Amino acid sequence: MALRLGDEAPDFTAQTTMGEINFHEWLGDSWAVFFSHPADFTPVCTTELGTVSKYRDQFKARNVKTIALSVDPLGSHHEWIKDINETQNTTLDYPIIADEDKSIATMYDMLHPNSTVNLTVRSVFIIDPDKKIKLMLIYPASTGRNFDEIIRVIDSLQLTTNYSVATPANWKDGEDVVISPSITNEDIPAKFPKGHTEIKSYLRTTPQPNK
Ligand code: BEZ
Repeated sequence: MALRLGDEAPDFTAQTTMGEINFHEWLGDSWAVFFSHPADFTPVCTTELGTVSKYRDQFKARNVKTIALSVDPLGSHHEWIKDINETQNTTLDYPIIADEDKSIATMYDMLHPNSTVNLTVRSVFIIDPDKKIKLMLIYPASTGRNFDEIIRVIDSLQLTTNYSVATPANWKDGEDVVISPSITNEDIPAKFPKGHTEIKSYLRTTPQPNK
């Protein structure tokens, strides 16, 4: 069965560069970005894993743990990390899963044989502290991911979890947000004391409530 938004992220035990982990235990009360990459010692992947490492403070500020996966073995991951650190000017300090038997990649539908036989595609799962899948992205091997976008989505998810708002196209943290259609005009002043603008009856905006 394909995974869907809102499903519980499947649990697993895995060998990683930081020891054996049980995924759900490792998640604890954190949000997580779980991402797969096609292979070790490849150029785009090297930049991606380095970028995630360099974004550590941004992830930490949002209570987000990061974890990567490929089907390469642990020894290869450890050797490759040296290259990532050297070339991307970082010290990678999050786990990389060695999914040699592809069991986790299969569970998360990260193998797309029509795209790249036997290699995981660039999947991203954002998982919330209830271990529910909140976002899934799939990129082809040839396109490195935009981790600013991943951070932006986390900001939106964390905001919309706590307030009855949604975030419009190209929204960035600090910008006005959209009031949920479920909120009546009568309820707006109490819920959104910073005021609101009614552009259409179904399109009402308000300053970001948690800023
Ligand atoms: C890369 O990470 O550079 C890459 C991996 C697989 C196919 C193409 C590029």
